[in-house]
Order: sequence, then C-alpha cells, then structure tokens
Amino acid sequence: MTAEPQFTLDLYSPDFSFFKAVPRGEAEALLREWRGLQVLPRRLRSPLFVLWETTYRCNLNCSFCYNRSPRRVSELTSREAMSLISELADTLRPFSVCVSGGEPTLRPDYLKILASLHAAGITVATITNGWTMSEELASGIASHAHTAQVSLDGPRPEVHDAIRGRRGAFERALNALRLLRGAGIAELSLSFVATRENIRDFPDMVDLARRYEVDRLRVQPVVPTGRGDLESVPTPEQLRWLEGFLEREVEGAAEEGLRIEYGDPAHHIRAGLLIGLTLAMNITADGHVGFTPYFPFSCGNVRRHPIHWIWTERVSKAWRHPVVRSELSKVRTVYDFYKVSGASSREPVPLDGWDEVGLGE
Ligand SMILES: C[S@@+](CC[C@H](N)C(=O)[O-])C[C@H]1O[C@@H](n2cnc3c(N)ncnc32)[C@H](O)[C@@H]1O
Ligand code: SF4
Repeated sequence: MTAEPQFTLDLYSPDFSFFKAVPRGEAEALLREWRGLQVLPRRLRSPLFVLWETTYRCNLNCSFCYNRSPRRVSELTSREAMSLISELADTLRPFSVCVSGGEPTLRPDYLKILASLHAAGITVATITNGWTMSEELASGIASHAHTAQVSLDGPRPEVHDAIRGRRGAFERALNALRLLRGAGIAELSLSFVATRENIRDFPDMVDLARRYEVDRLRVQPVVPTGRGDLESVPTPEQLRWLEGFLEREVEGAAEEGLRIEYGDPAHHIRAGLLIGLTLAMNITADGHVGFTPYFPFSCGNVRRHPIHWIWTERVSKAWRHPVVRSELSKVRTVYDFYKVSGASSREPVPLDGWDEVGLGE
C-alpha cells in the first residue's frame, strides 16, 4: 500500500522567480494593490508547511550542514513527539509536514512519526541522506509519506562522499533511490546543493535523475549558515551559468516527467519581508519553533506553550517582527546569509516584544 498521492503545493519552483523578475518597487506596488483588493490575507489560521527537524544526530558529517549536524540536543522524546502530532492534528491541521533532521531515519520512532502524521490526514514528506535505507524502511516510508527526498551532491562518488564526509555515501544514496522507487513511493525527489566545486556537474545530475526515474530534482546554492561557508557558495558567474542551463532544460525535462526546480534562498527572505505573511513553520529537534530553517530565531518552544498558541500569537506574525525585519534586511543575495545573528552558531535567538507586533496596514 502506498500513501495516497495528494496534490502538492510548492514554493520552490521556477515560478517563484517572480521576486527576481519584478523590480522591488513594482512588487511593492502590486502587493499594495492586492491588499487594497483584500485578496491577500494578513495572517493564516494554520501553516501550509511544517519542516520538523526531529533530531540532530547524523551518520554523515557534511561540510556545509546548515544545522551543524551531528550534534546532541535535548531532543523531543517519543512521547513528546506523539503529543505534538496530536496537537498539530487537533488544532492547526497544516497542509503538510516534512520530517527531516539531522538524519531522521536514526530516530527509533521515525516510522511511527510518519504513520501518525499520515493517520491524522496530513500530507507527509521526508528528507534523508539514504544511508540507512533498507527494503523494509523504504516500504514503511512509501506507506506513509507522499514524498521522499534523497540528497545527492554529485553524480560521482568522489564528489558526494567528499562533501558528505563518509566513503560509501554515494552508493547508499543511489540504493535508497532504487529501494524507494521499488517500494512505490508516490513522489521521489532528489536534492542537489550546488557549491563552487560541484556546480558544473549539474547536467550529469539531470541524466542520473532520469536513469533513476526521479520525479523532482531540486537544486539550490549552498547557504552560508551553520557550517556552510561563504567560500563554498558558487560565484555569481557560476549561478548565471546554472540559470541559463535550467532555462534551456526545464521544459524538455518536464515533458519527460522530470520536474527540475531551482530555489534561490534569498527570494524566500525577500518574499517574507515583502508580504509579511508566514506560510511555513519549522520545529527544531529540541522544540523551538521558527519561521525559516535558515536562521535559529525562536518564537517559542513546544515544551512551554501549545503549538497552536505559538503559531497564532507569534510565528504567523514573525515576518513583521522589528528584530526579524532589521536582521533579515541584511540579506539581499545568497552571499549575505552569514551576516544575520545566530547564522553561524545556530544558537537559538529568542524573540521578544511580541505585544507590539501588529498585522500591518
Ligand atoms: C539538513 S538535511 C537533513 C536531512 C538529511 N540528513 C539529508 O541530508 O538529506 C536537509 C537538506 O538540507 C540540505 N542542506 C544542508 N546544509 C545546507 C546548506 N548550508 N545550504 C543548502 N542546503 C543545505 C541537505 O543537503 C539536505 O538536502
Ligand atoms: S546535511 Fe543531512 S546528512 Fe549532511 S550532516 Fe546535515 S543532517 Fe547530516
């Protein structure tokens, strides 16, 4: 049995390049007009997406890991995780939850988490490095998750294993793709993080994705946050080359059933600041709740407050918070992420002063 294929909603697509194509002043005028027409909500009752980083344990040690895995934190126990899922299902009912990490498959209750989310009627996705994949695990994932995403940072073992810090990681990731496809996962996704060293290998990744019958291939530049350093971010010239390649290839690949998606992380920040509306929520392994996985801003902790309260009173207004606005306005391009408070250390940055955060004009 496979998880019911449900429709997916995606912010991570070439269409999102609206924020690139439309000059800043024009985008602001357009948004003012939409607000005037009352077609743009000021706040959502529930998040569309939840990214849940269930652990920071990891069997790999990637040179660029944004959340600095592997590391030990006081992660939510299985009982706390189950009660969080019940709360999510009873109150917020988000459109989808993506179970990530660290390496989420290392949690002994990993499949139980996927199954409980699925049973609650939530669309489930998960991200894995593939190292632990077995036939049994793949079949469990396919039964409860709509999308499984495997990370692969190069079409050859030399590149991927060097980035991931462990020999054999490449073969294990390919094996995971085979097993998940064989288990009948509804949507198989492959994620490639482009660095200065591997970006030119992307065309070979497209061929690999075709060979492994992948549905979606996601690519984004490495973000200089956590262990990601500025020197590994592709140069502007390399990124222009990648965009040119995508412009030529995306349509043809889509006709063959492979959806290639490019995400510029700076657009995500720009969109958030411009619209001031929170669409997504992230939960860390130790229960902090934020609105972007790129920075450790904490709007509260599920151990202290109900998730519904944290969303309604805080996360749903977070893009309007003055500290968030002043910190995140430092990010104009992908090269600026490291400038934001907490970007490198990943120490939670608690936000206060919520009483003054309104819902704007
Ligand atoms: C943090 S990992 C957790 C899941 C799993 N361990 C894995 O690697 O697939 C989630 C995704 O973030 C990507 N990632 C990690 N650090 C990044 C960074 N600094 N910039 C962009 N993507 C990054 C990984 O390649 C992976 O696709
Ligand atoms: S990117 Fe994934 S596999 Fe790599 S260290 Fe981070 S959590 Fe582990």
